Amino acid sequence: MRVGVPTEVKTDEYRVALTPAGVRELVDQGHNALVQSGAGLGSAITDEMYEAQGASILPDAEAVFGEAEMIVKVKEPQPQEVALIESRHTVFTYLHLAAEPELTHGLMESGALCIAYETVEDVHGRLPLLAPMSEVAGKIATQAGAFILEKPLGGRGILLGGVPGVAAANVMIIGGGVVGMHAAFIALGMEASVFVFDRSIERLRDLDIAFGGRADTIFATTLSIEERLPDMDLVIGAVLVHGARAPHVVTRAQLGSMKRHAVLVDVSIDQGGCFETSHATTHSDPTYEVDGITHYCVANMPGAVPITSTYALTNATMPYVLEIANHGAIGAINANAGLKLGVNVAGGQVTYAPVADAIGVPYVPVDEALAGAAVR
Ligand SMILES: NC(=O)c1ccc[n+]([C@@H]2O[C@H](COP(=O)([O-])OP(=O)(O)OC[C@H]3O[C@@H](n4cnc5c(N)ncnc54)[C@H](O)[C@@H]3O)[C@@H](O)[C@H]2O)c1
Repeated sequence: MRVGVPTEVKTDEYRVALTPAGVRELVDQGHNALVQSGAGLGSAITDEMYEAQGASILPDAEAVFGEAEMIVKVKEPQPQEVALIESRHTVFTYLHLAAEPELTHGLMESGALCIAYETVEDVHGRLPLLAPMSEVAGKIATQAGAFILEKPLGGRGILLGGVPGVAAANVMIIGGGVVGMHAAFIALGMEASVFVFDRSIERLRDLDIAFGGRADTIFATTLSIEERLPDMDLVIGAVLVHGARAPHVVTRAQLGSMKRHAVLVDVSIDQGGCFETSHATTHSDPTYEVDGITHYCVANMPGAVPITSTYALTNATMPYVLEIANHGAIGAINANAGLKLGVNVAGGQVTYAPVADAIGVPYVPVDEALAGAAVR
């Protein structure tokens, strides 16, 4: 199979979807890796490093999309990329379509088979291609929150860990999944007082053991969150309902009860945001203020640490890229039920029910949508 890797074009995105190790695996198994010139530079990977493992370097995105059968990316296709996607393509990348009606319609019109990293599941129902980036984003969330709490940056001016004789800051983490757990580990490492809220008692049980009693775990309800908000210095939102738009766990009215210049970090912003007052920001301009509360809502947080993120992501995606290359897209999804759950758009239809619900288009099961589709 001809596997194409374009340079990411989203603002402040420095990751790349394939490393030289991935090129080597593909080439050794008889495939072609077509890498856009400069695609790896943001992650300190040169064209020569790819070429040394057998990649062909192509001059621009047009050439990559034009020659490749499968496009492997990191972020959701931007409008100029959607224009290059054809029905013969398999597109394998993060999509986060529930909050992106325009992109969803663009991909439907392309007719391509679009597999979203974030809805692929493993045999335990976990999200193996979201997890590595969630680990990174969780760690950044606390790091960024601690920094923004500094007075010159618009924060309250409180040190997360306090010092002997002065209390630590209070950190609320709503959603104790992969993001939440890693955010909590960093907050605990910085010696903050940490409160993790989740709706799953099973998850809270696991976290309680993982934290060894160093953080409080609290069952998340509207009331339990509302009661604690006035004491918080940093609130990290990390809830996820698989594939769906994030629920709002903090409303605008509730901001009024919070301390002035407390900080909200909305990691769930890529699923539409879990605070009512959230809107997506970029690494170049990461924060804004609503009712005296600083919001940080960067939609591609792991993009800030591409050397870590590129390798963490490709370690997880590589086996799937090889499965698709070796068996063809249809063969691979039919052989792997978890990969099949990643198919969000196929044959012009939305094939993932939560996305169809969020966008307001009919849901069509993958097999039905693929009957007669161009991708093989
Ligand atoms: N902004 C970024 O750069 C970035 C990077 C990685 C992940 N993310 C996003 O972070 C979010 C969390 O990802 P994850 O991998 O930790 O997901 P996850 O599935 O591991 O965890 C989500 C947790 O939220 C809990 N939850 C669901 N609804 C809840 C509610 N109403 N109240 C409290 N808890 C609730 C679930 O029980 C689960 O434990 C996702 O939206 C993901 O896309 C964003």
